[in-house]
Amino acid sequence: MSSGAVWVLFLLAFSLCPLPSAGVRSEIVLPSQLRRVSTTSCPAPDPNLYYQPVIGIVSHPGDGASGRLSNETGVSYIAASYVKFVEAAGARVVPLIYNEPPEKLLKKLELVNGVLFTGGWAKNGLYFETVTKIFKKILEKNDAGDHFPLYAVCLGFELITMIISEDNNILEEFTASNQASTIQFVESANIEESLFQRFPPELLRKMTTDCLVMQNHRYGISPGKLLDNRKLSSFFEILTTCSDEDDKVYVSTVRSRNYPVTGFQWHPEKNAFEWGSPRIPHTEDAVQITQHVANFLVSEARKSINRPFTQEVLDNLVYNYSPTYGGKAGKGYDEVYLFAQA
Ligand SMILES: *[C@@H]1O[C@H](CO)[C@@H](O)[C@H](O)[C@H]1NC(C)=O
Repeated sequence: MSSGAVWVLFLLAFSLCPLPSAGVRSEIVLPSQLRRVSTTSCPAPDPNLYYQPVIGIVSHPGDGASGRLSNETGVSYIAASYVKFVEAAGARVVPLIYNEPPEKLLKKLELVNGVLFTGGWAKNGLYFETVTKIFKKILEKNDAGDHFPLYAVCLGFELITMIISEDNNILEEFTASNQASTIQFVESANIEESLFQRFPPELLRKMTTDCLVMQNHRYGISPGKLLDNRKLSSFFEILTTCSDEDDKVYVSTVRSRNYPVTGFQWHPEKNAFEWGSPRIPHTEDAVQITQHVANFLVSEARKSINRPFTQEVLDNLVYNYSPTYGGKAGKGYDEVYLFAQA
């Protein structure tokens, strides 16, 4: 036996039988006992990433509370849960107020490193036009070399499905209002580099058996319809599906094949931040889902090469507005940011 092999055997034996720790004095050194300057260093952050990412969230028509908070013409809102979702993962928010003049909106888009389209109900008019414009701009930014992510949640996913397919009647009806569901992973789906990449395997498994994702939609698209549409199937890869109350299967998570775009027919933001429905799951597993999904959006936004002027960012952050508590009615969103007509 060579001396190398003996040494390996020795190391192996040593690692298998750790020495008892009893009798070994711990050596905690107080700063005052240090004779020389500590050599500990804080490693420099990755210069390729941006550590002050900002996410633009598009506001939705109305007050989010059926007029309980405001009946003003032109009022729009962002449910604060989306803002908290972004903040919890280490980014700040600039509201993209949907009915602002287009040039102002496009200027604000230069201040952010990614965008989120929220849930809601509006599928036509100025809101649809604004979302279409911003979506095209997002693809342009990526084509031009930026890494500029989009999360399209619920209505947001429905809208980009309509935009990509160029078919406003592409959606189908489902019975999935106000309910929690399991989620099924498509077998061929590659979750590497998707939002699920850093989910603990145990959590991924639980999501398939426990009702851990919140649904609240009447429209959606079935896997067959998406795959049959050439524009949709070349843009999207289906990652997950869910079943509605009538066991009709709909596409629940997609990601783009070529862009950092993720679509959700479920609500990752609600588990941690909305309390208006007793159906919303709030278990530790459910809250972890919110956190992991938010982390992926912000990790994508840190890859953006956009470095906007700080003062302009500060002038436009959501902190220039105060959220309104709407959850006292015991339903709807807990807090909303309201925006008067710009
Ligand atoms: C909005 O209008 C409805 C119906 O008229 C009314 O019940 C509600 O109080 C109004 N909301 C506000 C904030 O004034």
